[in-house]
Amino acid sequence: MTYSKIVGTGSYLPEKVLTNFDLEKMVETTNEWIVERTGIRNRHIAAEHEDAVTMAEEAGRAALKAAGLTPADIGMIIVASTTPSMVFPSTACLLQERFGIAGCPAFDLNASACAGFMYGFSIADQFIRTGAIKTALVIGSEVMSRVVDWKDRSTCVLFGDGAGAVVLGASKEPGVVSTHLHADGTHKDVLYLPLGNKKSPNIESVKMLGNQLFKLAVNSLGDLCDETLAANNLQKSDIDWLIPHQANMRIIQAMAKKLDLPLERVVITLDEQGNTSSASIPLALDKAVRDGQIKRGQMLIMEGFGGGLAWGSALVKY
Ligand code: UT7
Repeated sequence: MTYSKIVGTGSYLPEKVLTNFDLEKMVETTNEWIVERTGIRNRHIAAEHEDAVTMAEEAGRAALKAAGLTPADIGMIIVASTTPSMVFPSTACLLQERFGIAGCPAFDLNASACAGFMYGFSIADQFIRTGAIKTALVIGSEVMSRVVDWKDRSTCVLFGDGAGAVVLGASKEPGVVSTHLHADGTHKDVLYLPLGNKKSPNIESVKMLGNQLFKLAVNSLGDLCDETLAANNLQKSDIDWLIPHQANMRIIQAMAKKLDLPLERVVITLDEQGNTSSASIPLALDKAVRDGQIKRGQMLIMEGFGGGLAWGSALVKY
């Protein structure tokens, strides 16, 4: 039996930091409101010369280095991004060109928005389990600052830019124990981002019915925790770490409560990074790995939720 295993993680955050106090000067908001309602204090903003590809490259190279591998070892590249510079070639193909590894499959996932990394992670896991490939590079890379309306206080305070990467390698033991993916297009109007075209040339900005989305996120992610544990006959007490999508501190707290986990066992980057959409889970994972918090052999639940709606989780023995 072949499984996949996390063999390396990496991340990249742009240098520029935008604080809540900066935002106070841009829209009618306060540091207190943002911290109380979301938990966010700072977010990183990409420089002019940076985009989803440049950030994916930084994160990807860091993950490969951590795995002790080189680009030539990669059997598949998956980039989850809702903010690519081009519809095609995909960010993954542009990255493949930078890595100089023409030939292996490379593709983007954008349909699942903030859940994109979980979708990519699950797909890579399936390919490795079947023996089709031995190593996959899965990246979430987002320049959310280019798709928010900086005059809309209800959304512009929430998002940030960055990239996170994971190298999955073939293993005789799990590794990735199970993945669980869901979607429900009936909630398409709760969170969406229209694309520019010839008829309507400018890409629009993220539209969100925050309050409805909040309730859907708590319910869907709660059910997903139950499903992930039940599928593996595990108890809450078997879980060492929760690595959640970083959208709102109150959602993260609800999930920690659902799993009976103290917040010390939940990886939180939201305060310093905001919501980086599909990059948030690999960014959080990499931080906790590099800080020495997550240790080999520990059991992790990763879970993401976003536009589509789409949501997904993974149970991983690190
Ligand atoms: O990553 C994908 C998944 N994303 C999520 O799951 C996000 C889920 N939703 C949320 O995190 C929260 O709904 C938000 C943080 C987006 C909003 O928090 P909320 O507690 O649901 O606030 P609200 O939308 O109900 O707005 C409450 C009030 C409103 O004023 P009134 O109508 O009560 O007078 C808003 O106009 O807060 C106002 N408001 C603000 N006030 C100060 C909205 N944005 C701001 C702001 N500063 N930035």
